[in-house]
Amino acid sequence: MVKNVCCIGAGYVGGPSCAVIAYMCHDIKVTIVDLNQARIDAWNSDKLPIYEPGLDEIVFARRGKNLFFSTNVDQAIIDADLIFVSVNTPTKKTGMGAGMAADLAYIETATRRIAQVATTSKVVIEKSTVPCRTAQSMRTILEANSNKDIRFDILSNPEFLAEGTAVTDLMKPDRVLIGCLQTPDGFAAQQKLIDVYSNWIPRERIITMNLWSSELSKLAANALLAQRISSINALSAICEATGADVDEVAYACGTDSRIGPKFLKASVGFGGSCFQKDILNLVYLSEQLHLPEVAAYWKMVVTMNEYQKMRFTHRIVRTLFNTVTHKRIALLGFAFKKDTGDTRESAAITLCSYLIQEHARVAIYDPKVDAKQIRMDLTEPGVGTNEAEVDKHITICKSAYEACAGADALVICTEWDEFKMDQLDYQKIFASMQKPAFIFDGRLILDAPKLRDIGFRVETIGKSV
Ligand code: NAI
Repeated sequence: MVKNVCCIGAGYVGGPSCAVIAYMCHDIKVTIVDLNQARIDAWNSDKLPIYEPGLDEIVFARRGKNLFFSTNVDQAIIDADLIFVSVNTPTKKTGMGAGMAADLAYIETATRRIAQVATTSKVVIEKSTVPCRTAQSMRTILEANSNKDIRFDILSNPEFLAEGTAVTDLMKPDRVLIGCLQTPDGFAAQQKLIDVYSNWIPRERIITMNLWSSELSKLAANALLAQRISSINALSAICEATGADVDEVAYACGTDSRIGPKFLKASVGFGGSCFQKDILNLVYLSEQLHLPEVAAYWKMVVTMNEYQKMRFTHRIVRTLFNTVTHKRIALLGFAFKKDTGDTRESAAITLCSYLIQEHARVAIYDPKVDAKQIRMDLTEPGVGTNEAEVDKHITICKSAYEACAGADALVICTEWDEFKMDQLDYQKIFASMQKPAFIFDGRLILDAPKLRDIGFRVETIGKSV
């Protein structure tokens, strides 16, 4: 029986996923560890380091009872029966595979730490998204350190939660995937993890398979999801040029049960830490396997996404009489999607950087992203804007109304509910803006005819005026 679980990495995945285990299994002690002291301090405080609907309740209910957050990685490893490795696997910035391959340094460091400090046998679970066959490297490191008293079994258990709905996804997942070596020891380790999840997930939703299929399934799922977004976004460009309406096209296609309606919403482009990284990872894997056509196929999903962001910003500049110099642009939403404070790879970053280069003044408001984060994102190497430019061109506002006051244009970047027509007073916003007052709906959340009645000029992704 599993009594003690440790999770290495207290991030967007490790934190919520293991907090839910603690919440659903009161007999299991769950310790989530991280090297980042500030992050652990935040997990132990009243203001958790990440925003997810429902997460506070779960953490506050079990913290100090069977849920603990600590920087004492070694002790948590020593005590655990099951160890989730949920560290970051970003795209490599330099060296072999730079810009494409996953950086596995954090995975390797965590694995070596387990091998070094463990004094009893462990089941080590890959929770991070990794290239196919990473478990082989982890096994080699662990086995080189095992002896007759200590053995390590390895499982792949990729996480499918989506930020913004993490808690509901974890409580009621479409499926939980567990991959193991197809050996008696592998199956025994797998059964331990099945027993944990079975506390709240129906057995038929727990899918088992071999390690490599499990690893690849996670990359494949993200690639297919992102491909759907790029497909509808590619169609949105045709809609704008022809007078077709992308919402109508998506509806018509989505009612075909083979296609289905979900994830067919055109937008300014996908963001988030995973889609781009995981596709590039798949592209790199394909190249390594000498499958250039396969690599080129998946690469186009990312290329189309970049094109969509550029296309949208070009439309803003074109519509504003081909110049945004000194114009105030209110940017509503900076997170990569609603209901999260996560800004990693957010389309808003690309948009801002482009608008700064065009000498616009950008007034940003996001309900969950603070000024410090926005500044950090806009001055990251590679974004193309420096501190002085950010100081000069960016104002960070406390409300949508403040951002829109005196603006020439309003741009919806994130689909937060509070920007919808029934939540914001667009009449009041119109009165406070320069005229003509423009709205660019990058998320298809507004009612363009109603806004036109107020007096706005409205430009919407996937629709021509
Ligand atoms: P994150 O960056 O929020 O968290 C990772 C944490 O691991 C960091 O706090 C870091 O300090 C810690 N860490 C790194 N090395 C460590 C070590 N040796 N010992 C202790 N702590 C260490 O990353 P996030 O978003 O939680 O992602 C983790 C993995 O899950 C990635 O592989 C990602 O691709 C995958 N994933 C992410 C999803 C998401 O929505 N963010 C969804 C599904 C999978």
